[in-house]
Amino acid sequence: MDALSLLLNRRSLPKMKAPAPQGEALEAIFQAGLRAPDHAGLTPWQFIVAKEHGLQRLADVLVAAGKANGADEAALKKLANAPFRAPMVITVVAKVTAHAKVPVSEQLISAGCAAHAMQMAAVTQGFTGFWRTGEYAYHPLVKSGLGLAEDDEIVGFLYLGTPDCQTAKVPVRESERFVSYL
Ligand SMILES: Cc1cc2nc3c(=O)[nH]c(=O)nc-3n(C[C@H](O)[C@H](O)[C@H](O)COP(=O)(O)O)c2cc1C
Repeated sequence: MDALSLLLNRRSLPKMKAPAPQGEALEAIFQAGLRAPDHAGLTPWQFIVAKEHGLQRLADVLVAAGKANGADEAALKKLANAPFRAPMVITVVAKVTAHAKVPVSEQLISAGCAAHAMQMAAVTQGFTGFWRTGEYAYHPLVKSGLGLAEDDEIVGFLYLGTPDCQTAKVPVRESERFVSYL
């Protein structure tokens, strides 16, 4: 698949199965993330990989945050099951630092670009990805449970695996609605 076809046709597929990317394919996914645009060379990224036992550890962190929030049984069950929707979940983090010329928003955008690049790198290698957040991506107990600093921000949980459903149709969007010229 050439780069333009990938960008024009990729879809996020919510249903995926093992195997997750590994070895060179996984390294290529990391490297794609590490090529994200980056103002002032801050490299404001961290990728926390959960697979096998790591999925349970991620679930435990989510459930602990849910309990602290007073979530009901059904919500806790959903949190406990959430990471197991894929054989691998990469938490994509913006490692935010104070910088005179690079506001926090730019560091978040850079980490978001990393997440997107990683998803594209997965798709082009025959895997699929789904970028999720949800309220617990922003919960302080989830951040601390994953060993993150207070200023760090989770920009997404990137679910990765092998497609386990038909790809969806690509929505048609008229560029006229979104584009203007000065
Ligand atoms: C920052 C961010 C967070 C997202 N969080 C969720 C989420 O928690 N749950 C969800 O169903 N989709 C979420 N999405 C949207 C999906 O990743 C996906 O883009 C959407 O379902 C549209 O599918 P498509 O990418 O194939 O167009 C999020 C997207 C972004 C950029």
